[in-house]
Amino acid sequence: MALMQIQNIEKRFGGLRAVDGASMEVRQGELLGLIGPNGSGKTTLLNVLSGHLAADSGSVLLDGKSILGLGPTQLTRLGVLRMFQMTRVFNRMSAFDNLVVCGLALGLNEPQSYARATQLLEELKLTPVMYLDAGQLSGGQRKLLEFGACFMVPPRIALLDEPFAAVHPIMKETMSGFIRRRNEAGQTFILVSHDMPVIVDLCPRCVCMNAGKVLAEGTTHDVLRSAAVIEAYLGEEAAEEQDHV
Ligand SMILES: Nc1ncnc2c1ncn2[C@@H]1O[C@H](COP(=O)(O)OP(=O)(O)OP(=O)(O)O)[C@@H](O)[C@H]1O
Ligand SMILES: [Mg+2]
Repeated sequence: MALMQIQNIEKRFGGLRAVDGASMEVRQGELLGLIGPNGSGKTTLLNVLSGHLAADSGSVLLDGKSILGLGPTQLTRLGVLRMFQMTRVFNRMSAFDNLVVCGLALGLNEPQSYARATQLLEELKLTPVMYLDAGQLSGGQRKLLEFGACFMVPPRIALLDEPFAAVHPIMKETMSGFIRRRNEAGQTFILVSHDMPVIVDLCPRCVCMNAGKVLAEGTTHDVLRSAAVIEAYLGEEAAEEQDHV
């Protein structure tokens, strides 16, 4: 059985169908890529999955049980964890305290939380700045810190919205290495990214959305070569040219 089944989700903003009957499934332990041109509904769908937006219709099942309508706090407790396109950390707390607080909030005791925070800071190459306020860190370091916060207690499924956007290439590598190792250890992800080389590198399977609908779903190789996907990104002519290559 799929870990998460997303069926016919619809989310309207006034007359705009931001998500227009999207269905997909996320298998246990997979790193599913979610791609699509700007405005295709990826962030809106993640917002529905994490309980930050209410869907107008459709269903979402986690382990076969409906989770649609639950709020972000309840969903975090069930292990559905969301990272935002805009980084969210406590700027006036040290990097270390940011992680410790998350650990405590997620049910770890103090020694567990300290140990885990230390280990994650090391893995994310943040040890040298662990006692600086998060607000003093670079954008990329704050993003890495947010990663750490999300994995203080490994979630059932982690929803990542463009984690690599505007991040220095060295940190991008730290981040993608982190995602890969977690996934190899069994962590399930949905990864939204416009960075196709990273999607190809990390995600064996992906879903492409366009105008709120699922345009293609399958192996990343097949999805990226599908004429409908090329057309959505580049227009009809590019898709025809690709056919002749
Ligand atoms: N709160 C909102 N109110 C009104 N319209 C919205 C809102 N959020 C998103 N939209 C619209 O819904 C559509 C889908 O937006 P969404 O942010 O989900 O796309 P996206 O695939 O994440 O795009 P990007 O790749 O640029 O991040 C867009 O047309 C967007 O303008
Ligand atoms: Mg988005």
